[in-house]
Amino acid sequence: MSDVLLRSDHLCRAFGGVVAVDDVSISVQRGELLGLIGPNGAGKTTIIRLLTGIQRPDSGKVFIGPDDVTRLSTDRRVRRGLALTHQIVQPLHGLSVLENVALAAGQAATRSAIASLFHYGRGREVDAANVILTRLDMLAYAGNMPDTLPLGYLKRLEMARALALNPDVLLLDEPLAGLNQRESAILADLIIALNADGLTIVLVEHNLAEVLRVATRLLVLDAGRVIADGSPSEVVRRPEVRDAYIGQGASNA
Ligand SMILES: Nc1ncnc2c1ncn2[C@@H]1O[C@H](COP(=O)(O)OP(=O)(O)O)[C@@H](O)[C@H]1O
Ligand SMILES: [Mg+2]
Repeated sequence: MSDVLLRSDHLCRAFGGVVAVDDVSISVQRGELLGLIGPNGAGKTTIIRLLTGIQRPDSGKVFIGPDDVTRLSTDRRVRRGLALTHQIVQPLHGLSVLENVALAAGQAATRSAIASLFHYGRGREVDAANVILTRLDMLAYAGNMPDTLPLGYLKRLEMARALALNPDVLLLDEPLAGLNQRESAILADLIIALNADGLTIVLVEHNLAEVLRVATRLLVLDAGRVIADGSPSEVVRRPEVRDAYIGQGASNA
């Protein structure tokens, strides 16, 4: 029995004349914290969207475990164990932090967004939400409306909603973007802790220092292609990886 939880097979996706993802075959192993890095426009977000079904490939396939899910909706991929956070946080603004997470927990329990709208607020979902908020060290904000949260906590809320779906693989698209160094370090520590709990994580991240600290394996993308795959400390020393970052400015290196 293979321990590949998520896999892409020769994925390609173009937008107009721009080839965003060019023949990308990657696999995510159970238990790893896979870092996905590359310069702006390298295709990182598009890969996450193809894996999660937000966008469809022009060609190539996506597998969850042994199953071809290329034609399945995001919702159905979530039911098969994927969850993602977005580069721009997307909470439900009319609901409190606790309600946001409980709603997601209800979705996992009832396996349907519509059903969970009617069930949310029930004890079990609220209990699950409380456990997750405690795990992310933000129980003190449970009653807050999302609009009142500092960015660091909005990011945690986004993560809490994803965790409430009880995923096998959590995909994070630039969770540290916009955070200062201290907030980044705290969130990165949380990501490490979730992985240590056994959660498999794919982390797209611009903050190279933090990726190098947290990732167990690193994939480097450039112009839609995988140019390196290996242990983080070894991969960043490769000349082709250094070249890909030149011209991106020292802030990315
Ligand atoms: N919806 C879209 N429409 C047009 N072009 C897009 C779209 N999404 C991504 N692209 C283009 O595809 C390339 C890869 O983008 P993206 O996957 O967002 O890269 P990254 O996340 O690595 O910065 C870029 O050139 C970007 O402009
Ligand atoms: Mg992106």
